[in-house]
Amino acid sequence: MKNKELTFSGVQPTGNLHLGNYLGAMKNFVSLQNKMPCIFCVVDLHAITVFKNPKELRENILETTAGFIACGLDFNKSIIFNQSSVSGHSELAWILNCVSRVGWMNRMTQFKEKAGSNKENASVGLYVYPNLMAADILLYKATHVPVGDDQKQHLELARDIAQKFNNDFQSKNFFPLPEPLIQKNLSRIMSLRDGKKKMSKSEESEYSRIDLKDSEDEIKKKIKKAKTDSLPIPEKLSELINRPEALNLLSIYSFLTNSNLETTLNLMKGKEFSKFKNELSDLIISVVCPIGKKIENLKKDKSHLIKILNEGTSRASLIAEKNIKEVKEIVGFV
Ligand code: TRP
Repeated sequence: MKNKELTFSGVQPTGNLHLGNYLGAMKNFVSLQNKMPCIFCVVDLHAITVFKNPKELRENILETTAGFIACGLDFNKSIIFNQSSVSGHSELAWILNCVSRVGWMNRMTQFKEKAGSNKENASVGLYVYPNLMAADILLYKATHVPVGDDQKQHLELARDIAQKFNNDFQSKNFFPLPEPLIQKNLSRIMSLRDGKKKMSKSEESEYSRIDLKDSEDEIKKKIKKAKTDSLPIPEKLSELINRPEALNLLSIYSFLTNSNLETTLNLMKGKEFSKFKNELSDLIISVVCPIGKKIENLKKDKSHLIKILNEGTSRASLIAEKNIKEVKEIVGFV
């Protein structure tokens, strides 16, 4: 039996969403929800793999929920909820911990990056984080998973785990093998200070990113200060090799205008970056500021946001409970 198409994706509640989150994830989510049933999850269980202040965590879960809606996710259509409210995530994660192999975990590059030089002191949760991510997806038998480039390895692991579960328990096709949906041309918006680093909440300088809640003035300042080089905008794509900052700004422009780099180069070739930056600022302001205002407004009514999450939890639980029951039977629990 072929599994029904279903999209699942998760976003960590890290506080302010930025332009990279919007272009790399949210914008894609919004178009996916018109193509197939979708589940979008605020992954709070993932968040605590690194210690989080409880008060801030609570704020950030609501902030991310507001971000989802402000970016255009429709909670009547898609299921929007937070991970910890559906117990199946933790339950399935444990079972998958027992399917997944230590050797597989040891190959995960993100753990190595996140744990840094002091691996002994990283939480065990951070180490098995990819198994929890596999549980998120498989709990709903999701078939499609939009993720950034950096999550590709985790998704491949989810496929390996699904396959091993199906084999070990002789349950052919029980878990579908989830397909990654990685945006062509761009799955990364880079830092405005360093075109080789991903735009990230964790980079210290605020000038490295555009937050969705930035004011017009802040956006103008940040783009003005964004790193470029002394050359004007080239005609050909090949001339952007070794110009990561120039490429990044032109990519942002292309994404926001729903066009491709070639079209943007055709339009802008020969222009000085100082002029291009003015146009880019105006464009970013026209997209980002309305979203930022919506987030602010939504955050004023926390009970409304909590109600949205609760409704999403009820809908997600219906699917999760049915599937976890089947899993328990397959595994041999009584
Ligand atoms: N690990 C993902 C990230 O850091 C978030 C995530 C958790 C996720 N569970 C998921 C993404 C399931 C896709 C599917 O970005």
